[in-house]
Amino acid sequence: MPDIESGPGRRRLQLPLLTTGHGGRAAMTCKYRCGDACSHPVPNTSDNEYFGDVVTKAMSRRGLLRTGAAAAVVAGVGAAMPTPASAAPARTAGPKPPPGIRPTPPEYGRRVGFTAVGDNVVDNVVVPNGYDWSVVMAWGDPVEPGAPEFDFDNQTSAAQRGQFGYNADFVAVLPLDRNFERALLWVNHEYTNEELMFRGWAGPESASEEQLRIAMAAHGGSIVEIERVGDTGEWRRVSRPRRHNRRLHTATAMRLTGAAAGSDLLRTSADPGGTTVHGMLNNCAGGVTPWGTILSAEENYNQYFGASADITDPVAVERLSRYGIRTQAGTQRGWERIDERFDLAVEPNEVNRFGWIVEIDPYDPHSVPRKHTALGRFKHEAAAVSIAADGRVVAYMGDDERFDYVYKFVSAKKYRDGTSRRDREHNLRLLEQGDLYVARFTGDSPEFPDRPPEDGLFDGTGEWLPLVVDGQSKVDGMSVEEVLTFTRLAADTVHPTKMDRPEDVEPHPVTGTVYIALTNNSRRTPAEVDEANPRPDNKFGHVIGVDEDGGDAAALTFTWRVVLIAGDPSDPETYYDGFDKSQVSQISCPDNVAFDPSGRLWLSTDGMPGASGVHDGMFVMPIEGADKGHLRRFLSVPIGAECCGPFITPDGRTALMAVQHPGDGAGASPENPLSTFPYGDQPRPSVVTVWRTSPTGGPYIGD
Ligand code: FEO
Ligand code: CA
Ligand code: CA
Ligand code: CA
Repeated sequence: MPDIESGPGRRRLQLPLLTTGHGGRAAMTCKYRCGDACSHPVPNTSDNEYFGDVVTKAMSRRGLLRTGAAAAVVAGVGAAMPTPASAAPARTAGPKPPPGIRPTPPEYGRRVGFTAVGDNVVDNVVVPNGYDWSVVMAWGDPVEPGAPEFDFDNQTSAAQRGQFGYNADFVAVLPLDRNFERALLWVNHEYTNEELMFRGWAGPESASEEQLRIAMAAHGGSIVEIERVGDTGEWRRVSRPRRHNRRLHTATAMRLTGAAAGSDLLRTSADPGGTTVHGMLNNCAGGVTPWGTILSAEENYNQYFGASADITDPVAVERLSRYGIRTQAGTQRGWERIDERFDLAVEPNEVNRFGWIVEIDPYDPHSVPRKHTALGRFKHEAAAVSIAADGRVVAYMGDDERFDYVYKFVSAKKYRDGTSRRDREHNLRLLEQGDLYVARFTGDSPEFPDRPPEDGLFDGTGEWLPLVVDGQSKVDGMSVEEVLTFTRLAADTVHPTKMDRPEDVEPHPVTGTVYIALTNNSRRTPAEVDEANPRPDNKFGHVIGVDEDGGDAAALTFTWRVVLIAGDPSDPETYYDGFDKSQVSQISCPDNVAFDPSGRLWLSTDGMPGASGVHDGMFVMPIEGADKGHLRRFLSVPIGAECCGPFITPDGRTALMAVQHPGDGAGASPENPLSTFPYGDQPRPSVVTVWRTSPTGGPYIGD
């Protein structure tokens, strides 16, 4: 039996038979989150090599190249600890927060102590013995001053613009004081499940204009002041919203930066200068910069654009198709009914203003979010920042689509680790200018793919292929503006490796190893496997670790290794970094990754109900020491939900994660809710805080 710890007690329900979508997730999730991408043709039709084609091309350089990673200086857990006086962080060379931050964080390399929870199908959050949890924010909770309390049957767009949005995804906590008793919570609101939000929903064609406006307002992000509860690891929202609280939504003005800003490709009738766009769409995961800002990734923005007439221009068709954007007349969300900018036939460039990494300064409630074109345009899953040996800033990014790519950006200017306002203003512009690369992974095993995974040697070398360097396009026939705006098409020309849906990326805060979650790819055929994507019909996903050569995040070559091949541990195809698989928890569909102050890798999943018949959750996997590969389930989410986040606070005392789309499944509606999480009535996407309660053992997450 699973350990079901207290938390606010919930009705426990049996898991209904879930009708799974094509990618192993509930069908409604497919439709509303990514525009049912799995049922559409793979948008990458380029003839780039699979690794299987090039496996023997490279000699093994592994022994020569695996050096120096520990020299990397990475913006990780500790980097999320800005000092409140200047709102600028100290530069950190590891997970240790700046001096003076209390409570004291755990030591690096601390051992995991909790007993794993079992696989669950209950309609609740389940945590290990010795832990408790609570909901910090749920859909509809007031965020901005004056916003009303949530009223499911009397929703308005005006209320939603001040209330917590739908489908929470990326979660981050940034301190507001040195004792770490007050903080800012950032949350992405990725997309909406209208069939669960509105009674009698029959589709966008029949939706009221107000329903469409509510859905628009429920996208974006939230900044919420939170406070520690007593001396525990629990956090709650402050009862009276203060000056930082803010909702970002589809009407929020944002500024485009970088070489593509102002170009013809980004100009619209409402914005002839091509520099100001309203809103951000489908913000999935993200990152926290060393200078205390949020990076929020626009992912499946394609689904919000309809067309009142077929698009026939062949150049436009090529550009739209590569991003899975419709070219035939029709709608998916109906937004073009109430706002012409979402009609591709009327405003062809508006779609080019989505699909970027957005930087938000949560410490300045009047700041204008910026979309950085220098980081390229694709279905951005996340962005995680490291600092290179020479001080330049490196952002690692995944493009979450089957057979798409892993990218990195290297800034032109160097990070300043001072705490003055001028230093911070300098750092705030680092992502506006720099070089853009895409990754090619080359295996080094001539015997692949016959080799079994147990030897743990799916590995090789790789290179970062230039797309833009020193302000110049490196792609024949494409200008810099075109490379940045149609990055997928640019990347296709330089032959990167087609990956199994690159989701979150995270550099280890001490070793610098970059961990890349590859969620799944059931479309990969046996002929298409390569050493970096070694499994055909990859239902369960895997994780790759990348070590930049010389331990320098700005290096143009790297080595890599598959550290996890997910799935039932009894399946000989799986690999848990060499650990005894009889002792690990099963995991599948790894999506988000994060590190805690002890240097342990945390993963959250999206798709375990479809892939493995159990609920999604949050897992920890030590990546060094005697426990390396000893993956344990820490938490389960309710019926129909995926688990997003995760985030471990820099003091190591609190885990946060998002319960996204609870109650999602075939036949679900407000009259027939499949989940009643969290308050026993309609399901509400929520952010949950988890903390240690046991009087024995340590106070830290993982103890
Ligand atoms: Fe929004 Fe790639 O998950
Ligand atoms: Ca995700
Ligand atoms: Ca992450
Ligand atoms: Ca996902």
